[in-house]
Amino acid sequence: MSETAQIKLSEKTYDLPVITGTENEKAVDIAKLRDLSGYITLDTGYKNTGATQSAITFLDGELGILRYRGYSIEQLAEKSSFMEVAYLLIYGELPTEKQSADFQNEISRHTLVHEDMKKFFDGFPSHSHPMGQLGSLVCSLSAFYPESLESNQTETEINLTIIKMLAKMSTIVSWIYKKSLGNPIVYPQNKYDYVSNFLHMTFGQRTEEYNVDPVLVDVMNKLLILHADHEQNCSTSTVRIVGSSDCNLYASISAGISALWGPLHGGANQAVIEMLEQIKNDGGDTAKWIAKAKDKNDPFRLMGFGHRVYKNFDPRAKIIKKACDDILEKLGVNDPVLEIAKQLEEVALKDEYFVQRKLYPNVDFYSGIIYRALGFPTDMFTVLFALGRLPGWIAQWKEMKANKEPIGRPRQVYVGATEREYVEKQSR
Ligand code: SDX
Repeated sequence: MSETAQIKLSEKTYDLPVITGTENEKAVDIAKLRDLSGYITLDTGYKNTGATQSAITFLDGELGILRYRGYSIEQLAEKSSFMEVAYLLIYGELPTEKQSADFQNEISRHTLVHEDMKKFFDGFPSHSHPMGQLGSLVCSLSAFYPESLESNQTETEINLTIIKMLAKMSTIVSWIYKKSLGNPIVYPQNKYDYVSNFLHMTFGQRTEEYNVDPVLVDVMNKLLILHADHEQNCSTSTVRIVGSSDCNLYASISAGISALWGPLHGGANQAVIEMLEQIKNDGGDTAKWIAKAKDKNDPFRLMGFGHRVYKNFDPRAKIIKKACDDILEKLGVNDPVLEIAKQLEEVALKDEYFVQRKLYPNVDFYSGIIYRALGFPTDMFTVLFALGRLPGWIAQWKEMKANKEPIGRPRQVYVGATEREYVEKQSR
């Protein structure tokens, strides 16, 4: 017999259905609550509110578990590739050899960006933030592919838009990086796989053949896999709600890029490095900065620490921390802020303030150190997060449309002025 919840309101009792997920998560379905009782629920920030039922990513914040379509993040980071994980997230299964080859070929055929896009691109001031450029350029893709605006696109047409979005994102990201250096852009080459092509367009030069370094390919695949999806986080929820208005994929992804930009979300990887640099330049006194993070009167927060869902170690942070040690050793890079990061982690994990609030390092705490070792400027870090998160955003947008979910439109509790008569200006 299916489980129900009872809620008593104004002396009346209402039965509400309980939903149980495949990992035994429980939810009270309140869809009919207002019709039945006139009441709504309130949960500012949606800290305890489910927005959908999804089959894409499962995470358990208490146990530090993260799985994409049932496969653990540890196994995928170790054994898979970013393109294979993108296929898994979007289509639901790991691809066969043929499916992998066809997918990569499709992507390769669409990596070029319309030359007219350069007119937008050249209009940005040379030091404008890469996330602002990325969000604008991705949304402008809808101008070049007006068919993507059609509401009744066939599955094949939607899939072509998905392929174009995946393919052109890496080209646009590499353009933004080249612009930050004042260097000419490098065109994609079909002989490379997705990650190798991204590294070729980003670090290659027009004047010479780029030697793809397998060490860099491996660490980029791992970083992109670790960022690929994370269920209903702020930016993914944004993509879903924008898409729920029947908005095209490009504009929906552009909205997700904007949400990710915030330093409380994906912008944290940039904020972590800026924080570590600040502590280093201040003499490296980690105890002083831990005290500031704990001081309610001080706006300083320990960036890269804490998480809405993980109340245990973020499993991605553990993998990135190990990759950080490995890649810095392989590249022979000695980054002083890495030591400061490790000191902060060591002190914070023993400090009652952090322990009591279950604040652990999250995905952003160490990732910036790797991006910096690879040669990326700090303000490019969140763009790299977006590149990784793109398949997850696409998978979630596709699932929302396939489920024919209604347009997202939350309710509110009004606490403003009650009805009053208009007062002429001379009488105010
Ligand atoms: C990402 O949701 C996702 O899945 C996101 C993400 C993804 O893959 O999409 O995982 C990516 O966004 C990771 C998070 C990156 N952000 C940061 O590292 C910024 C620093 N962290 C915090 O701002 C904060 O921890 C949040 C925003 C991540 C979570 O905030 P919550 O869940 O709203 O928690 P809260 O602000 O209510 O904090 C609870 C308590 C508060 O203290 P009290 O009021 O109980 O005394 O913990 C304190 C907070 O002041 N706290 C911190 C802290 N984070 C929380 N205190 C100091 N430093 C911090 N970093």
